[in-house]
Amino acid sequence: MAFEIKATGRAVPQRRVSNEELAKKIDTNDEWIYSHTGIKARRIADAETASSDLGVKAAWNALEMAIERGVCTEKTPEELAATIDMIVVATTTPDFYGCPSTACLIQNKLGAKNAGAMDISAACSGFIYGLETAAGFLSVGTERKRCLVIGCEILSRFIDWNDRRTCVLFGDGAGAVLLEKTSAPTEGIGRRGLLRTILRADGAGSENLIIKKGGSRNAYRAGDVFEFAPFIEMNGRAVYNFAVRAMTEIIKDLLEAERLSIDELRWITPHQANARIVQAATKRLNFPSEKFFINIDEYANTSAASIPIALDELNRGERLKSGDLVMCVGFGAGLTYGGNLIVW
Ligand code: UT7
Repeated sequence: MAFEIKATGRAVPQRRVSNEELAKKIDTNDEWIYSHTGIKARRIADAETASSDLGVKAAWNALEMAIERGVCTEKTPEELAATIDMIVVATTTPDFYGCPSTACLIQNKLGAKNAGAMDISAACSGFIYGLETAAGFLSVGTERKRCLVIGCEILSRFIDWNDRRTCVLFGDGAGAVLLEKTSAPTEGIGRRGLLRTILRADGAGSENLIIKKGGSRNAYRAGDVFEFAPFIEMNGRAVYNFAVRAMTEIIKDLLEAERLSIDELRWITPHQANARIVQAATKRLNFPSEKFFINIDEYANTSAASIPIALDELNRGERLKSGDLVMCVGFGAGLTYGGNLIVW
């Protein structure tokens, strides 16, 4: 029994905001942003778009691919949507805090009438956690076959646009994968699908990346007057150090656990937070930088969406072929971190 990614999709807002455009409004410049992060631009959603809207688009995009590539017997994306058993949505920026889950909104919009739906709260590691959760769900219950795993974010709405240390880093977007239980082997020649996942957390660092206002710890109360919407606060240096450590640890541990060498991996697809984090981890590991897929220049940090967006770019760009080994590595608020090792 294998858990295979059969199709991928993505959706990003049309509006592309370059570093130069940002520099017209806040005290920053392209040279600083690019040299410190590798970011050139980000996509920003219009005021009417919420996370579920992008999530739905990414999901349709994945379902359409499944039909086009003939990986299922269903004839239309709508028919395929009706066969989904579970929708797992990783998001830090749900349409509504608390309830309902963004997954339920997406389930309704897709017409996925036979699916359960739930959100995962693991910030930028959300897709890594979500994929393992979906595989776990499929592994119990013989009748379950398909899950959609989606990462979707509208981070632009939770940013202090006066804080140049954080506002230049984030963007909006969504990515989705269709995960299916198949009879392919998970060992030996011809093995396929999710081989191994590591999920870790370090809650002691919770204050280093946090949206303080709006939850039960700092709830809004009647009569409150507030100057700012809830926004992301970050101890950049602490998160940077954690991220390099986390990436290095997960890559090493996954390779060791599967007795693999770096040469056997086709791609490492890291969470796109900062190209410098990836470069520092690459140097520590002494691995060739060509193994690491980076698209942060175009999208900035889209949190839980960054890894499925990257997988979709690789997949659609024909840069992944059946049998390729891919490692996804995530890290983020919580603090959370982890990785999935996948045979494509
Ligand atoms: O998904 C996970 C989420 N987050 C991350 O992964 C982020 C992790 N952290 C980082 O990537 C880095 O810490 C940053 C890119 C956020 C910051 O880089 P840094 O090298 O740690 O910069 P810094 O905050 O120490 O600031 C250095 C200087 C400061 O100037 P002074 O005080 O030394 O004169 C800042 O005011 O750079 C200045 N600065 C800027 N200048 C122009 C900070 N942000 C900007 C900016 N434009 N946007």
